[in-house]
Amino acid sequence: MSKNTLGLEQQVHDYLLSVSLREPDQLRQLREETARHPHGIMQISPEQGQFMALLIQLLGATKTLEIGVFTGYSSLSVALALPPNGKIIACDVSEEYTSIARRYWQAAGVADKIDLRIAPALTTLDQLLATGQAGTFDFAFIDADKYNYLAYYEKALELIRPGGLIAIDNVLWSGQVANPQVQDHSTQAIRAFNEKLHHDERVSLSMVPIADGLTLALKRP
Ligand SMILES: C[S@@+](CC[C@H](N)C(=O)[O-])C[C@H]1O[C@@H](n2cnc3c(N)ncnc32)[C@H](O)[C@@H]1O
Repeated sequence: MSKNTLGLEQQVHDYLLSVSLREPDQLRQLREETARHPHGIMQISPEQGQFMALLIQLLGATKTLEIGVFTGYSSLSVALALPPNGKIIACDVSEEYTSIARRYWQAAGVADKIDLRIAPALTTLDQLLATGQAGTFDFAFIDADKYNYLAYYEKALELIRPGGLIAIDNVLWSGQVANPQVQDHSTQAIRAFNEKLHHDERVSLSMVPIADGLTLALKRP
């Protein structure tokens, strides 16, 4: 939930983008359309999309999972970085939001890489586990309802291979996690999630202050 990187002055953020952003036209067009959407703030920032694309290349990922698609900016960033045989299983509950995503996946020529499952993500993750896909994913991106973050993380951890990476979005939640006055359910859920991961020895951990905060959890062997 941040179009910019939290805490970075506008002038510095503009500079960062001016000397580092390499946004393909299809992503730029999608970002411009999403900016006009009433819930456009939900989209990840372009520098985060580029960072995730780099992670996909670093990992040599071919099989990935996305929990929370919206209009498709993160999935399109990942799909463009995947090799021709790469796949994303993409989870969302909204036909309406993802109809925009589908349009851009088609236009960018990556629709064949993306298997969109319209259902509560926990149902889709349970189906993947029930069909023997534990340990087969290289990368997972979690960016849906905050209340279920811990459950998504536990299932994603089963689904990825040792050495695979889980990226979890909005872990700084516009700074609200650090404000004890804020006690709504989503903020409490993110705080509990961050505390749990801090002590989770099953993963190597880094909380990256890009956009709204992105935690990287690498599954240890
Ligand atoms: C923050 S947006 C995702 C933004 C997206 N990653 C992007 O780059 O634009 C969260 C998405 O999670 C979806 N969502 C909410 N609850 C869900 C659930 N229980 N299962 C699957 N998706 C859910 C919403 O429909 C919404 O599209």
